[in-house]
Amino acid sequence: MAAGLWVPLLVLRLLLLLLCVEPWAEGGKVLVVPLDGSHWLSMRKAVQELHARGHQAVVLGPEINMHITGDDFFTLKTYAIPYTQEEFDDLFVLQNHLIFENEHFLKTFFKMMTIFPTIAAFFQRSCENLLHNKDLIKYLNDSSFDVVLTNPINPCGTVLAKYLSVPAVYFVRFIPCGLDFEGTQCPNPSSYIPRLLTRNSDHMTFLQRVKNMLYPLALQYFCRVFFAPFASLASELLQREVSVVDIFSYGSVWLFRGDFVMDYPRPIMPNMVFIGGINCANRKPLSEFFHVNMFSGVNCIGSNLTAIFPAG
Ligand SMILES: *[C@@H]1O[C@H](CO)[C@@H](O)[C@H](O)[C@H]1NC(C)=O
Ligand SMILES: *[C@@H]1O[C@H](CO)[C@@H](O)[C@H](O)[C@H]1NC(C)=O
Repeated sequence: MAAGLWVPLLVLRLLLLLLCVEPWAEGGKVLVVPLDGSHWLSMRKAVQELHARGHQAVVLGPEINMHITGDDFFTLKTYAIPYTQEEFDDLFVLQNHLIFENEHFLKTFFKMMTIFPTIAAFFQRSCENLLHNKDLIKYLNDSSFDVVLTNPINPCGTVLAKYLSVPAVYFVRFIPCGLDFEGTQCPNPSSYIPRLLTRNSDHMTFLQRVKNMLYPLALQYFCRVFFAPFASLASELLQREVSVVDIFSYGSVWLFRGDFVMDYPRPIMPNMVFIGGINCANRKPLSEFFHVNMFSGVNCIGSNLTAIFPAG
């Protein structure tokens, strides 16, 4: 009797083994539109894994960049941007010093306000250059990608995905101004969800709740300056009205580089997947500088700051 059961079980096991080994599922073609800097370092790991699983990845990066260099597990495709290396270095070294200075919120805010439009213009003009590059768009369109993997904080990848009519998968830590909540249609009550830079927890007093409502208003300025031009660009290309929320809502799946070990509870949707552990793929001890300047938006970034943002 035992032997009688054992034989079908063996056959079942063999069948299961065959199913796992047979490469019936064909590899997909993934267009990766990364955001330069530390964001790319964890996305790179995901691209490596996609390659290991038989998918083909083309990484699209600006000609002048910090970390987007070629590798044997993807094809690098670059596009020209209307900036020189010198302008690029000036812009990003200045920005990085500002972000990691441990100053009062308001002081940092006003400093950021002065240089932010220049930074925003950099991303917008680079994106225009990419989307108006007829040869490159033709190449991308002819390549028939199955999916675009992009960090939507720079909405250029999403606008490109919409333009090519390819679904988008987002790889993101968070988007300011609650745009990730709007894009995924998640409830976002101010009384319970601590806002960026407030240092509030999910248990707030009345005054903290007021602060929680006021801080996002200040950030609105940055979001409008940064994101609105991408909506105009998308409207121009697609010949119909496209809003900022339309752009973010385009994501089919959201891979969030967060984890509830570190982030406060929040409502989520079924197309949101939490992959915070990927930030720890290349872990190294944090430098003293990082400990001192740690703020809640930064987690296990995987390397020391000198390595990520070389001094100018
Ligand atoms: C991509 O190619 C298709 C088929 O040739 C064409 O209809 C479409 O307009 C092209 N899209 C872009 C963005 O060039
Ligand atoms: C950080 O990285 C830089 C560049 O790779 C290296 O020279 C430096 O020794 C590192 N510092 C620490 C504290 O690991």
